[in-house]
Amino acid sequence: MWIFALLLGLLFLGALLYWLLIITEGVYLGRRAVVWMYDLTARQYDGIKQYDVYAEELFVVRPLLHHLRAIPAPRILDVATGTGRLPWFVLQQPTFQGRVTGLDASANMLARAAEKLAGFTYRANLVQTTAVPLPFPDNSFDAITCLESLEFFPSDTAALREMARVLRPGGVLLVTRRRGWEAKTFFGRYRDVDQFEQLLRGMGLEDIETKAWQVDYDQVFAMKPRNP
Ligand SMILES: C[S@@+](CC[C@H](N)C(=O)[O-])C[C@H]1O[C@@H](n2cnc3c(N)ncnc32)[C@H](O)[C@@H]1O
Repeated sequence: MWIFALLLGLLFLGALLYWLLIITEGVYLGRRAVVWMYDLTARQYDGIKQYDVYAEELFVVRPLLHHLRAIPAPRILDVATGTGRLPWFVLQQPTFQGRVTGLDASANMLARAAEKLAGFTYRANLVQTTAVPLPFPDNSFDAITCLESLEFFPSDTAALREMARVLRPGGVLLVTRRRGWEAKTFFGRYRDVDQFEQLLRGMGLEDIETKAWQVDYDQVFAMKPRNP
């Protein structure tokens, strides 16, 4: 009988650790734990993700640049840029003449980003800091992006508020909303589509559009009004 209880205990412990460290990536242990885990895994990150160049261009870069088509040299801020996924794919586009700032709290993730973006020194810059507060004045960027990261921040609300602040009037925000069964295990943090859109609306954003993107993520586009 005690062996059965021990096995059950070990199973529970294993499931708890899996949830705490793998599914929710340390978010319930605090910001430092999340960043420390990304520092540890930065070298393996791109190998694990295996981004598909065609899918990135079709489903991320083109829709984003479509919103910026009237601006000759747009300024983009990518919050939680990681290994520089978004800057890298955007800067590959011959039609893109702007600049991209990538921000992340993990020094090792940014070190990988710096290697990838070395050929774009004058059009890409990287900043190591947390998503809150953002070290930029109000209305600084034409577009702000934050992919696959909001759910790992101490507060998605505080981070989104900062993004809305540094976005210029008329600018576009592209963020992701975690979806699927794992998303619902982010207890006290999960937002369904209506709740997420409502949050953005409450920050004064408009033209909010949620699109299914990957198994685990929706893309959410929103605009900052020109005349708030
Ligand atoms: C899943 S990765 C996503 C990276 C990139 N956006 C992508 O799509 O590949 C999450 C990133 O969020 C960063 N991060 C986590 N918490 C953060 C915080 N509070 N402030 C800034 N960056 C943070 C991590 O260091 C990591 O690089």
